[in-house]
Amino acid sequence: MSDTIDISLMRERVETIEALPTVPATLKQISGMLEKPRLSIEELGRFIAGDPALTSKILKMVNSAAYGFPNRISSISHAIMLLGLNVVRGLLLGVSVFELMRRNIEGLWEHSLGCAVAARWIAQKKQVKEPEEVSVCGLLHDIGKVILILHFPEEYEKVQAKAGKEGITLHEAERVFFDATHSDVGSWLARKWRFPVNLVEAIEYHHRPRLSKSAQLETAIVHVSDALVHAKGIGTAHDDLVPAINPDAWGLLQLSVNDIKAVLDELEEAASSETEVW
Ligand SMILES: [Fe+2]
Ligand SMILES: [Fe+2]
Repeated sequence: MSDTIDISLMRERVETIEALPTVPATLKQISGMLEKPRLSIEELGRFIAGDPALTSKILKMVNSAAYGFPNRISSISHAIMLLGLNVVRGLLLGVSVFELMRRNIEGLWEHSLGCAVAARWIAQKKQVKEPEEVSVCGLLHDIGKVILILHFPEEYEKVQAKAGKEGITLHEAERVFFDATHSDVGSWLARKWRFPVNLVEAIEYHHRPRLSKSAQLETAIVHVSDALVHAKGIGTAHDDLVPAINPDAWGLLQLSVNDIKAVLDELEEAASSETEVW
């Protein structure tokens, strides 16, 4: 089909995100920094602290409902100490990438924040050791969509039209046009940016959780959170269909009706709170 884009070509284009004219200088710098094999806490702290706007956005995030430290974290070094390097790296990326798309892609930021809130709640309930890391997985799970929309705007419009016309999910329509989906694209970048495997897999398999090998629980949590946020109507994932919940992922989490109610209440509260991150 002439409309389709070869997957290796596409991967190459996505992985050279630094070359994108629409990507501002800070993101290029961040991307370069995240690729470093050994990024020290001091280096990351210094980088963020050198940018007051970025600092305040990250502090707002960590003190919001998605991370559960209301008004307690006052500096980037404190955030790194409490949340760990990976969480702060993920937030740095989330905040800067989503900043790009707030202007072009309405509602995806709210959808992503909703997923971060739901994922943290469920991770805590399931006694996952690092619920904040799962929250970052929720925040970044659709990052591939941002990249696709920015890189391939015309094609992505066709993807959305096809999904709407045929009543299929965006994920399915993406596969027809690109031979890859936003989950693939997100995972390429997460790998390139040296994120831990649980984050990579939660992004890669959030629509097909049974394929996850090393992060089944985290992937199931993000998968179910995605559906709950959709169902609750918070933000928009630019998909008309609420994704079907995979029975294995659902079974793995063993959530009760009361748990679901609690997640939905938490979402409601977070979305109605007037912090600027929403
Ligand atoms: Fe998705
Ligand atoms: Fe999503």
